[in-house]
Amino acid sequence: MIREIDERRSIRKFLSKPLPESEIREIIASGIKAPSSKNRQPWRFIVITGRSKKEMLEAFRRGIYREEHGEALLPESKKHMAAAKYTVEILEQAPVVIFAVNSLGQGIFKDMTKEEKIYEICNIQSISAAIQNMLLAAEEKGIGSLWVCDIYFAYKELCEWLGDEGELIAAVALGYPDEAPSQRPRKKFDEVVQWRD
Ligand SMILES: Cc1cc2nc3c(=O)[nH]c(=O)nc-3n(C[C@H](O)[C@H](O)[C@H](O)COP(=O)(O)O)c2cc1C
Repeated sequence: MIREIDERRSIRKFLSKPLPESEIREIIASGIKAPSSKNRQPWRFIVITGRSKKEMLEAFRRGIYREEHGEALLPESKKHMAAAKYTVEILEQAPVVIFAVNSLGQGIFKDMTKEEKIYEICNIQSISAAIQNMLLAAEEKGIGSLWVCDIYFAYKELCEWLGDEGELIAAVALGYPDEAPSQRPRKKFDEVVQWRD
């Protein structure tokens, strides 16, 4: 597993070769073995392929258009818009996109009490653990992955398109990789670790 942790990369170029359904199932099965706060298992996964992916991309592009020309939800994040457009192109190439939803989530538009926020944070941590398990399981199978949060540029449109109860957390693009990037830089160990004896 340490090999998978070392060798996993965010993949942004995929081959068009489809992924067998059995591989997708095994990757998600690894996700749902993740620990979760109070074992609530708040995750839901929506597997998007084919025609459905086309519709999802249309919703994503509508959201980006709204952010640029209409009522922006993320007015401070305009500098990341070009990257968000690139992410849409990556998702277009990827044979499979999995949406991770927080089935117990209240969504970003609701005011929450401190306690509700903590509940939400714990659930999101649990879903993040599931996503990371999925990326590592994919790596073990020679399948490339990309964890995507640029979905927030089209949050309204994607949630409407999903029509699902709960809060959209992230997307995961999966496919056979068409690139082999070298390791991206990391902060130095001593910069991020503090020992207290
Ligand atoms: C929560 C989260 C959201 C991310 N969102 C995106 C995204 O929307 N688009 C993208 O291209 N990469 C996205 N990434 C990938 C990061 O850019 C990448 O993990 C980072 O640059 C380190 O590269 P590596 O994964 O190859 O080690 C995301 C990663 C995480 C963990």
